[in-house]
Amino acid sequence: MLKFRLKTCTSMLLSALGCTVLLWACTPQPAEHGGQNPAQTSSQTSSSNSSQAKASVHPAWPELSPARKADPQLEARIDSILQSLTPAQKVAQIIQPDIRWMSVDDMRQYGFGSYLNGGGAFPGDNKAATAAQWLALAEQMYQAGLDASLDGAAIPPLWGTDAVHGHNNVRGATVFPHNIGLGASGNAELVEAIGRATAAEVAATGIQWIFAPTVAVARDDRWGRSYESYSEDPARVRNLGAALVRGIQGDVQAADWLQGPSRLATAKHYLGDGGTEGGRDQGNTTLDEAELVRLHAQGYLSTLDAGVQTVMASFNSIHGSKMHGNRYLLTEVLKEQLGFDGIVVGDWNGHGQLPGCSNQRCAAAVNAGIDIIMVPEDWKAMYQNTLAQVAAGEVSQARLDDAVRRILRVKLRSGLFEHSPAQIAGAGDQQLIGHPAHQALARDAVRQSLVLLKNNGGLLPLAPKLRVLVAGDGADSITKQSGGWTVSWQGTGTSNADFPQGRTIYSGITAQVQAAGGQTELSLDGHYQQKPAVAIVVIGENPYAEFDGDVASLDYQAGQNQDEALLKRLKAAGIKVVTVFLSGRPLWVNPELNASDAFVAAWLPGTAGDAVAELLFRKPNGSVPYDFHGTLPFSWPKTPDSQPLNAGDAASAEKVLFGLGYGLRYQPQTAGAVPQDLPLLDETTATGVKATTQLALFERRPAAGLRIQIAGADGVASDVTANQAAASDGSLLLRAVNWQKQEDALALNWQQGGATLRLHGSEALDLSRYGQLVFDLKWQQAPAQAVTLAMSCGSGCGGQLDLSPLLAAKAAGQWQKITLDLACFAKAGAALNHLYQPFVLQSAGSTALSLANIRVTPATAAADISCAGD
Ligand code: BGC
Ligand code: BGC
Repeated sequence: MLKFRLKTCTSMLLSALGCTVLLWACTPQPAEHGGQNPAQTSSQTSSSNSSQAKASVHPAWPELSPARKADPQLEARIDSILQSLTPAQKVAQIIQPDIRWMSVDDMRQYGFGSYLNGGGAFPGDNKAATAAQWLALAEQMYQAGLDASLDGAAIPPLWGTDAVHGHNNVRGATVFPHNIGLGASGNAELVEAIGRATAAEVAATGIQWIFAPTVAVARDDRWGRSYESYSEDPARVRNLGAALVRGIQGDVQAADWLQGPSRLATAKHYLGDGGTEGGRDQGNTTLDEAELVRLHAQGYLSTLDAGVQTVMASFNSIHGSKMHGNRYLLTEVLKEQLGFDGIVVGDWNGHGQLPGCSNQRCAAAVNAGIDIIMVPEDWKAMYQNTLAQVAAGEVSQARLDDAVRRILRVKLRSGLFEHSPAQIAGAGDQQLIGHPAHQALARDAVRQSLVLLKNNGGLLPLAPKLRVLVAGDGADSITKQSGGWTVSWQGTGTSNADFPQGRTIYSGITAQVQAAGGQTELSLDGHYQQKPAVAIVVIGENPYAEFDGDVASLDYQAGQNQDEALLKRLKAAGIKVVTVFLSGRPLWVNPELNASDAFVAAWLPGTAGDAVAELLFRKPNGSVPYDFHGTLPFSWPKTPDSQPLNAGDAASAEKVLFGLGYGLRYQPQTAGAVPQDLPLLDETTATGVKATTQLALFERRPAAGLRIQIAGADGVASDVTANQAAASDGSLLLRAVNWQKQEDALALNWQQGGATLRLHGSEALDLSRYGQLVFDLKWQQAPAQAVTLAMSCGSGCGGQLDLSPLLAAKAAGQWQKITLDLACFAKAGAALNHLYQPFVLQSAGSTALSLANIRVTPATAAADISCAGD
């Protein structure tokens, strides 16, 4: 690595000092890094018209020119607008607040260049807002931006939204399969059509700018954003990313490019988001430059070619330095060598992660090449600080002008000055939201995205005139089939009622079966009234987004296995089992595959869940209406500890169960080929072997298969599903609060003794491979009466520890990591391989505690209560 660094540095003729710190950000350190005079940095910033500037050539990268040649008339118009603007008006252009923290009056007063609604942000905080209500806010913001009475400038703003699988924040919108499913389809025309449909629904709400496509190439599927990636294969990403851009923006060479319902697209997150170590979200990528280009840049090269107008910087680091500060990659490579003349937008407070920066100030990000700072909440301080930094020369006039020039260029190109949101054809038209043609497209996309992994004995396609049991917690849940970035950021907290246009997988199965004279029975836990001929079991991951979806291992339901138990129970009863697996990534499911006769990877299909059934059944007359089409966009693991696992990597071969591109068909592609049954697979998870990674039981929310419950002093227990709850007798109050992340901690307030907070599993948990129970706890003062923690293995079975001495000994008023040897619970009577309630916290008196991050880990740290060796 050192060798490479030296090589890079010499070839770039830059100071050794800069290079040891930042591999591809070898610029003098701006003031906020505590370095040299920042004016020096800014004076080196690219010239105002960077599309022409090719300062240096970086051999790892191709040379591109802008997809659209500079238009002299348009550039002249930019010049004249720029000349009319004051520094304050220019700074306002580069600030992007979120509608939850900024009003129309703020827009009138400051004249921001853009604003966003992050995941789960709606006009008036109303998740049921209509197209007309979304449009009304867009129009008011537009007019407030044009209103020069307070800020002296008349520049309309852009509104950006995460329409990442359809216009997914809007009630009633068509929600398409997440990118992973579209990657399985491999169909660029389909993706382009989805881009067009999404743009039409976004235009109906008056919004101009879509933060998609994600062109990440996820190379470690433990990453919580794997499903936002089309594939581990850069070629698929390259192809489909460009297709979505064409769909959203139109054909870059056509006269109507960016006009009418076409919207602005964003290629994100530049660069290397899918290449972080361990698949950690916002983590560090350590590939060399050639590998970065080969694996992670392909989606940028193709979308730039397709004329993408904005690129979002990534949260991740490259060789330890955050992308938001990487001038080499943002400015020298992207803007200069690749000729990108559009906008580089930062990600959500991503600037605040740079050394020396905060959410409220960060000249370094602007100097590195960020043109718009996404600063959802702290925009006012950012605006004032940036203005002061411009006055002090910490951000140069030239750099600011370049950023504003780019913003104006995109606004002018897209006709923003000519048409207000309400003047776009279809604006406010509720009929466009979830339009039948878009829903038909979504059904087609679902059919093309499913991958058939197992079909022993040719069980599928089923004859529909059957008695069918439909089971599994994904069978009748649009929430679960849609995943993250659906109505809310995490995709949680919704029910089928939030999707007036949505259809569950169960509804599709019923439609097929009833039309043929068969019968269905829905029973999520698989307990049936009447024995069925076949069970279709829909299981899989619960919704998550970003870092919340990071996992330590790909073992599906590690240590819990309730779905495995459900499948095995049905199989043991002699019922044929078809598993439909909903997930944002491949997972290790050997036990579930073994217990299924047929197994379909359905990814996250979105609102057209009914289309899943169209592939599972024959027509009543016996004909087969649809064949499978999808092929695996990611290598499927044979062992739970297989990551990273990617086609072409030598080390991967023996860990692959189904390779990239695998997928069965009803109709064999080679004439005469006889479909082979999948033999039984190895189910060992390394039983008896000590775990080497940790298992989260509660991190912002309970792990799959667990629920939070509170039980009052009266013993009455209830599930906690909202971010505030109280025991039925009022003895314990619970509230989700912010600690390190949003709502990552629980504030617990015992009004009287006897109440408990617990994690409850519907199936027993096996934690015997782990060594310690670890959690974070904070208390204002040591509780006056006993606080105990128990692990329960069923009625009359369990072990309890008294935490009071520990709480008295450790400092109150700050977060403390508590580490307990699991052996102590075992000694006290808990069967660690059979826990129903792995965490039962009780106070004997009134007290207040905050709790976060409950996990079990290998025994590595010194324990606060120790029994090791006992
Ligand atoms: C995500 C982006 C998204 C942005 C705005 C960030 O946390 O990384 O993908 O566009 O939020 O919601
Ligand atoms: C927003 C998302 C954003 C995330 C970043 C959430 O509150 O709704 O849009 O990506 O925060 O942490």
